[in-house]
Amino acid sequence: MSQELWNSVDAYIADRIIGHDPVLEGALEAAAAAGLPAISVSPAQGKLLYLLARVQGARNILEIGTLAGYSTIWLARAMPRYGRLITMEVDASHAAVARENIAKAGYGDVVDVRVGPAMDQLTEMARGKEVPFDFVFIDADKKNIPGYFEFALKFSKPGTVIVIDNVVREGRIADGESDDESVQAVRALHDMLSQERRVSATTIQTVGSKGYDGFTIVLVHE
Ligand code: SAH
Ligand code: DHB
Ligand code: MG
Repeated sequence: MSQELWNSVDAYIADRIIGHDPVLEGALEAAAAAGLPAISVSPAQGKLLYLLARVQGARNILEIGTLAGYSTIWLARAMPRYGRLITMEVDASHAAVARENIAKAGYGDVVDVRVGPAMDQLTEMARGKEVPFDFVFIDADKKNIPGYFEFALKFSKPGTVIVIDNVVREGRIADGESDDESVQAVRALHDMLSQERRVSATTIQTVGSKGYDGFTIVLVHE
C-alpha cells in the first residue's frame, strides 16, 4: 500500500463525486502561490466536513486553524445563508490569504477571520456572548489539542459536533512511549474522551493524498 495508490484513489474520488470547483481549487492555488504549506484538508476530507456540518444543521461554526481558508469555505458552504463562522489563525500572512479566498468564495460577510494565538482568543471568547457553537473544527497546532478540546466542550450545547484533525500521526498515536508532544497531545485527548460522560466519540484512521492520519468525531449529548 503506497502513497501513490492513495493519491490515485483520492484523485478518482475527487473526479467522480466531489468535482472540480474553481473557487476551492483557486484557494489552494493562491495558498501555494503565497508559499503556504500544502496542509489543507484534502477535497474528500473537506467534503466530509461539509457533510457533517450539514447533517448537524450547523448555523454557528468555530474553526481553530484557518491556513488559506480551504476547510473554512467547505464549512461555510454547509451553513444556511444566515450562518456565522469564526476562524482563528495565528499567522497574519495566512489570514490575509484566507480572507481573500473567503471573499472570492462569497463568504466575506459570513466568516470572521481572527488573527492571534487561538488559546488567547478562546480565553477571551469564554467571557463573551458568541458561544455556544453547533460545530467546531480543531486543526491548528497539535500540542494544544487538549486545551482546544476543553474550550470546544465549554462552548458546546447538546448536539454540538466537534471534529479534531491529525490525531493518528502515521500510527504514532498508539505509542505510549513517544516523546513527540503532538503524539502526547492526541493521547491526552483520548484520555479526556475516555473520562468524559457528556460526549460520544470515535477516531477514524485515514489514508489519502495527505498520507496516513485520522480524525476524531465527537458528539456532545449533554
Ligand atoms: N484548517 C485548514 C488547515 C489549517 S493548517 C484547512 O484544512 O484548510 C494549521 C493552521 O493553524 C496554520 O495556518 C497555522 O499557522 C495555524 N496555527 C498554528 N498554531 C496556531 C495557534 N497557536 N493559534 C492559531 N492558529 C495556529
Ligand atoms: C500539519 C498540520 C495539519 O493540520 C495537517 O492536516 C497536516 C500537517 C503540519 O503542521 O505539519
Ligand atoms: Mg489538519
